[in-house]
Amino acid sequence: MDLGDPDLYLDPDRFARWRDHAAADAVLWSEAGTSPGGFWSVFSLAACRAILAPKAPFTSEYGMMIGFDRDHPDKAGGGMLVVADGPQHGRLRSVIMPFLSRAMAESLDDVVRQEVRRLVADAVSAGGVDVAASLGPVIPASVVCRILGVPADDRDMLIELTNHAFGGADDTFDRMSPEAAHSEMILYLADLVADRRRSPGDDLISALAADSRFDLREVLLNCDNVLVGGNETTRHAIAGCFHALATSPGTLAGLRADPGLVGPVVEEVIRWTSPAMHVLRVATDDVDLPGQRVSTGDAVVAWLPAANRDPRHFDAPDEFRPGRTANHLGFGYGPHHCLGAALARLELRALLLALAEFAGAVAVLGEPVPLRSNLVHGYRHLQVRLEPV
Ligand code: HEM
Repeated sequence: MDLGDPDLYLDPDRFARWRDHAAADAVLWSEAGTSPGGFWSVFSLAACRAILAPKAPFTSEYGMMIGFDRDHPDKAGGGMLVVADGPQHGRLRSVIMPFLSRAMAESLDDVVRQEVRRLVADAVSAGGVDVAASLGPVIPASVVCRILGVPADDRDMLIELTNHAFGGADDTFDRMSPEAAHSEMILYLADLVADRRRSPGDDLISALAADSRFDLREVLLNCDNVLVGGNETTRHAIAGCFHALATSPGTLAGLRADPGLVGPVVEEVIRWTSPAMHVLRVATDDVDLPGQRVSTGDAVVAWLPAANRDPRHFDAPDEFRPGRTANHLGFGYGPHHCLGAALARLELRALLLALAEFAGAVAVLGEPVPLRSNLVHGYRHLQVRLEPV
């Protein structure tokens, strides 16, 4: 079986398969197909951690997604944070980190809270929405635009382009292909970089553009990394947050009574939704995985939703149960651990608190429609009904 086949992840049985593979500590080989050279897969929390750990004999520089081709490595390798290793990774991370840090998240707290309150109040007065199509994409795109320093007048246009670029093959975006939207986004960002070189601001684009160690291609690759990283995962965590609340009616009432409980609810939303479905690494040495020797040059995929449903770490893993004590791998692990985790948590916190304030109950209408993807574990449609408090 080729575990890169995106159709596998339309199937509700994916959860049972992930859970079983994690419980068995399975190491499975997928023949050449979605990745030209084939790849190994690991599922348990311990095996995923071992692949991603600092100093593990693996690299991201060939690419970090299924589709990896030894003969045609990712062109962004070594130039974009998420597919750079060693000193170049350190240089990029240190420049980008302050713009995605916890301190930055705290400084944005008020403005994000106000914006999310308005969106949620509107959704509740409308009686409900398709959260995958409307609310989900808007919140993260607006936060990322602020970080990058996109002028307020251009934000709606860039949010629209981002939706087209990352909206996948959804028919709602049929007037512009994702590729065309992505190219337009890069051209827009190139203009913005030129502008910030002339008159720098206190934003991420200005910081990258002012750093003589990076050329224009690297500056653009890393703006793109933050745009993709910030939008493509968080929008599905936001949509999934509604889905989770619908399965756990007491959670909103609990938050209304004690908003201080929001932290553990956010962590459980990340674990339960696990929007980043896989990360791929290439072995730089021969490595022993449970019951299997992997050779130098082999690709290994860590399935994060499987690790987050590993029954040895999480009791009744399919249930949404805030307050679990085991750490999840939703943000990855090791040197590439998500740099935007503080911002993603800020957005989910704002959403949960606004829902506790305005919504008495959340219900999912019809069957959620998953994304056809092996990379992003998310929703194409999730229609919800929201009852006022
Ligand atoms: C890296 C997940 C939100 C920016 C990662 C990785 C994961 C992840 C699993 C590790 C990739 C790897 O190991 O190869 C998520 C999830 C999010 C989220 C589940 C939301 C729920 C964000 C946000 C931003 C962001 C909001 C920025 C605004 C990044 C960046 C990296 C990264 C820049 C690369 C870090 C590095 O390579 O050193 N993310 N992410 N992410 N994420 Fe996120």
